[in-house]
Amino acid sequence: MISIKSAREIKLMRAAGKLAAECLQEMLAMVKPGAIPLEIDKACYEWTKARGAVPAPLNYHGFPNSLCVSVNHVVCHGIPTDRPFQDGDIVNLDVTPILNGYHGDTNATVIVGSVPDRVVELVDTAKEGMWRGIRAVKPGATLGDIGHAIQTFVEKKNFSVVVDYCGHGIGREFHEDPMVVHVGKPGRGHVLREGMTFTIEPMVNMGTSETVLDKIDGWTVYTADGQLSAQFEHTLLVTTYGVEVLTTLDA
Ligand code: MF3
Ligand code: CO
Ligand code: CO
Repeated sequence: MISIKSAREIKLMRAAGKLAAECLQEMLAMVKPGAIPLEIDKACYEWTKARGAVPAPLNYHGFPNSLCVSVNHVVCHGIPTDRPFQDGDIVNLDVTPILNGYHGDTNATVIVGSVPDRVVELVDTAKEGMWRGIRAVKPGATLGDIGHAIQTFVEKKNFSVVVDYCGHGIGREFHEDPMVVHVGKPGRGHVLREGMTFTIEPMVNMGTSETVLDKIDGWTVYTADGQLSAQFEHTLLVTTYGVEVLTTLDA
């Protein structure tokens, strides 16, 4: 069942979304050559707690840390390690504070130092793919319209879209209905209605869209071919005429 948020819940979602955006900005500022993922994890925990919020990833189905750090060929759900970032890495940070019972979920990928042009293109394509999906959101549009907008853009650039992991409804729960698949056909799938809140978070791969799950930690998702993957995420609200980005700083 897809929940429709009340006016009161929307206010709470806006506050959680803004906090998530601020948290992501603060944590991304720490990504530099030599910086250590586990130190960013600690900073995320302290930063979130100091603002009266809770990091949703921590202990979520047993996840061990306060944010996900997904480097290079890690698609998503990377567990922060003690391996310092290096020149040429691409690094995704994914944060989700819970404020007054509501979740804000956002992520972004940044480039450490210098990378080949095609890698810059990968990161830019993931970001623009997310925005193409966001611009498809309005009452009466469908989830298929969102997936189609993302898929056609990404595939035209000769990258691939991950289908094993999706966006999701969000609110009191971290992951609610519906599943927001980042590929699709126009007019297919659930119809969007004013008051729905969900994420769009396409993972875009350099090579195959296939993924593999780390057998030992049970969390880290890798590209099946070991090539790079980039991702961006925002939490969204369907409004009367279109869409509002909740995880933005200028809200
Ligand atoms: N933030 C991720 C998402 O966008 C989910 C992370 S679940 C965790 O849906 F347990 F790995 F943190
Ligand atoms: Co999400
Ligand atoms: Co997320």
